[in-house]
Amino acid sequence: DLISSEVQAALPKGHTIRPLSSKDYEKGFLQLLTVLTVVGDISKAQFLERFHYLKAHNHEYFTLVIVSPEDRIIGAGTIFIERKFIRNTGLVGHIEDIVVDEKQQGKKLGLRIIQALKYIGMKTGCYKVILDCDEKNVPFYQKCGFTRKGCEMAWYTADDSPKAKL
Ligand code: ACO
Repeated sequence: DLISSEVQAALPKGHTIRPLSSKDYEKGFLQLLTVLTVVGDISKAQFLERFHYLKAHNHEYFTLVIVSPEDRIIGAGTIFIERKFIRNTGLVGHIEDIVVDEKQQGKKLGLRIIQALKYIGMKTGCYKVILDCDEKNVPFYQKCGFTRKGCEMAWYTADDSPKAKL
């Protein structure tokens, strides 16, 4: 019930929007993410370890994928929900890792992913949903109903590929 039926209905014929599945390793999920950034050589075991962590926390991590009629993953995006003290112990949705297959861009699939993630933010009671993006993607997010607010800051640790300790 957290998947917007309106978004599903607006997708091109034969396409589906659904949560990430453990079988998506074979359906091109990680290859799709390389359109966004460096992914690395992730084994099936590594994928499943991360997948099961996210699934165990599926009250706060929501990764959606768009599946083509050929059963390939052609779009993806995540919202995770942060629990704050401020705003009367409010919730904030963070949108991350939005990506559409290069051959499928310009068909409103990115818009549909964002609409579906905003719906989750609304249904879970977030008081706002935020994201960071490159300047070149600002017009896309404006079309998705976002406005500029503040600016993005980043600090990268000196280590190129630090070992995850969490
Ligand atoms: N500049 C201007 N307008 C744009 C741009 C752009 N770069 N990209 C999309 N739009 C417009 C479209 O023209 C369309 O407008 P319309 O409704 O007037 O026709 C509207 O935005 C919706 O576009 P979509 O077709 O839904 O966009 P698409 O499916 O191509 O997805 C996306 C956009 C996700 C940015 C895609 O190009 C992509 O995967 N890029 C590479 C990865 C990337 O940069 N991801 C975003 C990272 S930021 C983050 O993850 C928080």
